[in-house]
Amino acid sequence: MSKKEYTVGFEIIGTGRAVPPKRITNDELAKTLDTNDEWIRSHTGIGARHIADEHTACSDLAVEAARNALSWAIECHACAEKTLEELALTVDMVIVCSSTADYFCCPATACIVQNAIGAKNAGAMDVVDACSSFIYGLETGAGLLSVNKDRRRALVIGAEVLSRFVDWTDRGTCVLFGDGAGAVLLEKTDSSKGLLRTILGADGSGAEHLVMKRGGSRNPFKQGDTVETPPHIEMNGRAVYNFAVSAVTETITSLLKAENLTIEDIALIVPHQANARIVQAAAKRLNIPEEKFFLNIEEYANTSAASIPIALDEINRSGALHSGDLIICVGFGAGLSYGGNLIRW
Ligand code: COA
Repeated sequence: MSKKEYTVGFEIIGTGRAVPPKRITNDELAKTLDTNDEWIRSHTGIGARHIADEHTACSDLAVEAARNALSWAIECHACAEKTLEELALTVDMVIVCSSTADYFCCPATACIVQNAIGAKNAGAMDVVDACSSFIYGLETGAGLLSVNKDRRRALVIGAEVLSRFVDWTDRGTCVLFGDGAGAVLLEKTDSSKGLLRTILGADGSGAEHLVMKRGGSRNPFKQGDTVETPPHIEMNGRAVYNFAVSAVTETITSLLKAENLTIEDIALIVPHQANARIVQAAAKRLNIPEEKFFLNIEEYANTSAASIPIALDEINRSGALHSGDLIICVGFGAGLSYGGNLIRW
């Protein structure tokens, strides 16, 4: 795997999430699909997934998560701004990490979110790197703040409506995915808290292992085409599994080595929630207790770019972390791409 490493540091002053209320359990799926709760749980750790209704698009979930992150910053962080509207005006960048944008090609979903939350002074862009998008997005946010002294705050949002892009007749993929969004508000501060180091990587030779083949410039829809199955994710599950275990293992090892840390220095590892077995295999390989990894896949399934920020918000609101704790977020996905963020809480 190729590796690029560099260092920045920015504080997370708010977190939020948005999850559609409609919850579909494995047993409910099994009513229309040749599958069962036992298989799904034993192979993935998934018990349910939340699915957006037909009126909800990616930006709707992103906006709700973003507002919740701004509210947290107002209520629990010593922000000078006391209303959501005031705080939104101080946001310099809105970054939406997603592979299930509102619109194909353009506009960027981030522009829709920027308008909806009233972040009138912010630039807006999407980061598209499948399930690694949020890891890349956090680094992008910190990078964009760092290169311009006038920028102070960036909203980084992971949001997905994957249910629109799975083949609901393919039991090998559709049981794995769910919808949701999570957001963090990053602030440039003098504090030693925040994003300390990010590792980003990719192995594009595995691009075909997890791919949506129809609709792009390589395989566009043409006039007169009959669409038998809407564009959907196709996956070589075994290849992705093997890649994921290596990506998690190597990213954690590299982050610890780069900062001269041991696993005992880390309070919590927040992995992308793709499959509990991937996490268990990586924990075993690294000789790390499984309890060190945060898992909520049982409730949400794989929400791609949203899984890590949803987890961060759950952890934040549960009070499980103390100020100064070190955590590692680690992601992987189509591309194949991977990466990790070391964060001081
Ligand atoms: N319910 C019941 N049976 C199922 C099933 C389901 N939902 N999905 C697959 N099966 C069956 C297969 O048809 C196969 O049956 P067969 O032996 O009669 O042919 C059997 O289960 C084993 O299938 P296989 O694909 O080899 O299972 P697996 O142990 O590799 O597990 C995944 C499949 C998808 C769970 C696993 O490969 C995986 O998690 N890969 C990574 C996927 C991922 O995380 N993607 C996102 C990355 S961001």
